Amino acid sequence: MTKAIAFAQYGGPDVLHTIDIELPAPGPGQVRVAVRSAAVNPIDYKQRNGALAERFPVTFPAVPGFEVSGVVEAVGAGVTGFAPGDEVFGALMGGGYAEHALVGVDELAHKPATLSWEEAAALPGAAETSERALDVLGVQPGETLLVHGAAGGVGTVLLQFARARGITVIGTASEPNHAHLRELGAIPVTYGEGLAERVRAAAPGGVDRVLDAAGQGGVLPLSVELTGSADRVVTIVDFADAGKYGVRFTGGGDGEVYHQQAYATALALHEAGSLRLPLHRVLPLAEAAEAQRISEHGHLRGKVVLSVSSS
Ligand SMILES: NC(=O)c1ccc[n+]([C@@H]2O[C@H](COP(=O)([O-])OP(=O)(O)OC[C@H]3O[C@@H](n4cnc5c(N)ncnc54)[C@H](OP(=O)(O)O)[C@@H]3O)[C@@H](O)[C@H]2O)c1
Repeated sequence: MTKAIAFAQYGGPDVLHTIDIELPAPGPGQVRVAVRSAAVNPIDYKQRNGALAERFPVTFPAVPGFEVSGVVEAVGAGVTGFAPGDEVFGALMGGGYAEHALVGVDELAHKPATLSWEEAAALPGAAETSERALDVLGVQPGETLLVHGAAGGVGTVLLQFARARGITVIGTASEPNHAHLRELGAIPVTYGEGLAERVRAAAPGGVDRVLDAAGQGGVLPLSVELTGSADRVVTIVDFADAGKYGVRFTGGGDGEVYHQQAYATALALHEAGSLRLPLHRVLPLAEAAEAQRISEHGHLRGKVVLSVSSS
């Protein structure tokens, strides 16, 4: 048996409890990872509180967690390139808040020794989302990109991927996060009333495309107005209103798989010494409920990560 954090009903953070589960056996193309860190994402609390019950139902008891780092313990049939003892990070469809998790090799990568367990766990989802969103948006080198919600887990990585592609980035954030955005090479702008005027002042040549990672405050119509075309706006949050404004939503699962391309981009930046993966907070696995409270409160600078004891 092994330990995991799970919820057996929809509700607040207090529905999360430690449970014992069978040690999972890797299927074909999977490895079992002894988890060292698991990242916390907004989708975790949206699943737990039932907000995604129709779109993304779970089977109870449900173990949250979409990204982990750790050590390969066992490999399934057909797995090549990974062996027990390898230090890895990867993405999974739930099950990450646990001492052991199964990860498919298509979503798995070797962890460089220079990347901490916590940083590595914080990487897969943000990297895949960033690579995918930039490609779906079709933003080109030399263009100016506006990112709504630039200081969070996704925004922090997306700004760096965009800068590496030669794109000028304007990012919206609250003022305490403006220095953080500048360090990532972006031009910070405060969101809220008067946003369009502030963006125009920051980008006198205009904004070519917009990526919405905030999903708040009527930013979709404002973004269409700023770029002059709904084709130039993509949201990763607001699937409910995207169609209303003719804007595209990307949520993954659209067919193309971006994980390995995204990991390559991230690891190249890391090797060049320029990848920043700020950790908003690191908590032990047993404090998953508190970790989700912090995530749900918002206003993060980087990621919330759970640390799993190696004993
Ligand atoms: N579709 C997909 O494939 C996909 C994948 C990953 C994530 N997502 C979604 O994308 C969103 C962002 O994810 P995340 O992991 O980056 O979240 P996060 O780490 O919780 O960050 C959220 C950020 O939003 C900022 N923020 C809050 N209110 C804002 C507003 N009105 N305008 C602009 N920024 C605002 C906060 O910065 P300040 O402190 O500066 O306010 C915070 O840094 C979530 O809704 C998540 O579910 C979608």
